Amino acid sequence: MGGSKHLFFGGVDVVELAERYGTPLYITDENRLRANYRRYKEAFGVESEIECEVYYAVKANGNLALLRILAVEGAGADVFSTGELHLARYAGIPARKILFNGNSKSDEDLRAALESGVRVSVDSLDELRALSALASETGHGKEVEIAIRVNPDISPRVHPKIATGLKESKFGIPSHEVIQVCEAAERMPNISLSGLHCHIGSQILDVSVFSEATRRMMELVTKLHEHGIDLEFVDLGGGLGIGYTREEKEIAPTPKDLAEAILPHIEAKTRELGLKLKLIIEPGRSIVGSTTILLSRVNAVKRAYRNFVAIDAGFNLLIRPAMYDAYHEVVVANRMEEDGHGHGHDRASELYTVVGPICESGDVIARDRRLPEVERGDLVAILDSGAYGFSMSSQYNGRPRCAEVLVCDGRVDLIRRRESIEDLMRNQEIPERLR
Ligand code: LLP
Repeated sequence: MGGSKHLFFGGVDVVELAERYGTPLYITDENRLRANYRRYKEAFGVESEIECEVYYAVKANGNLALLRILAVEGAGADVFSTGELHLARYAGIPARKILFNGNSKSDEDLRAALESGVRVSVDSLDELRALSALASETGHGKEVEIAIRVNPDISPRVHPKIATGLKESKFGIPSHEVIQVCEAAERMPNISLSGLHCHIGSQILDVSVFSEATRRMMELVTKLHEHGIDLEFVDLGGGLGIGYTREEKEIAPTPKDLAEAILPHIEAKTRELGLKLKLIIEPGRSIVGSTTILLSRVNAVKRAYRNFVAIDAGFNLLIRPAMYDAYHEVVVANRMEEDGHGHGHDRASELYTVVGPICESGDVIARDRRLPEVERGDLVAILDSGAYGFSMSSQYNGRPRCAEVLVCDGRVDLIRRRESIEDLMRNQEIPERLR
């Protein structure tokens, strides 16, 4: 490799990781994870009169080792299924710091919520009735604390597939019906209404939309107050964007920017109404996105209509480019050069289009990127893939999911074993009569 430098991540040479664990491989840097979480704690910490809790959105990355680190750091969790609830609990996140979200919860989901004693964000009147009935029936005689998921009708100006608070979106109860539903909740047995919840979208780079959402939510808090209903918390969801491109990295808002966009409205309103209101936020991407790279091996280089670099990771492991036209920086991990500032980067030569091994033309990871001359056997690292990477992976095309490792100051731990061919067959049966 002609003296080329290697990419180091978490103090570890990733070329060695590829040799030891094989590729594809997700590699997460523990220090970055802790730092990203702590940035939230600092931004929403001591300086505000509003008490704030950070509920990490488990859907972004549900690896147990990461959840464990966040649990120890003090995070709560936003869970969107019974499965995520169990992951969060297993990692040690206490039930009182978990909110069970979802627009389509089965009786089983609602029972799991009731049994574990977590709060539930209710997405419809239908769900509210079912929850009340189940809570009475399970005979705990226990009240279940709920929040009402609000559809605030706000455009976060992001990719349409990740805008969740538009009026046409499937999530939440329309603002103008919220008061009515809250009043209904107050009358229902075994239901204790304690908050309002919204989540307007993801990868939001303009924090002014969070101010707007906060204002709308505080209007509802005010109206409820006028109706004699005082809440304990408002949950503004997640959605803070991160820099994926080099330009975005310069301008991406920080948790502090988010705090400055949100807190003044809450402080002003709660003072005016004489309320004590807790704030909950549910960041996912901005906590895990930058912590992880996906390392893959080049299987073929082909000069055709484009200069194709075919690697061993595709949309089976990182669906974001295919699904949202998302941009991820890619580097050739065994051909990094020093830039004179002590930072490694790859010496660009020509334009390559990096594609995966999946049998679909949409399996493009990165289009027309300037990379150093690439050969079969080289390693391509896809950066910032900690959020919605592994968690959205599949076994499509008969590909077992890859391993995950955690790196920290030069040490390495395997945190998920690579799946095997056996795992592809697990739980399947060929009926006796077909044998
Ligand atoms: N809270 C709720 C209720 C959510 O639905 C989500 C994300 C979050 C919090 C966390 O949002 P974040 O801070 O990560 O933006 N797969 C897409 C993103 C889907 C987001 C779904 N909900 C992507 O890869 O861009």
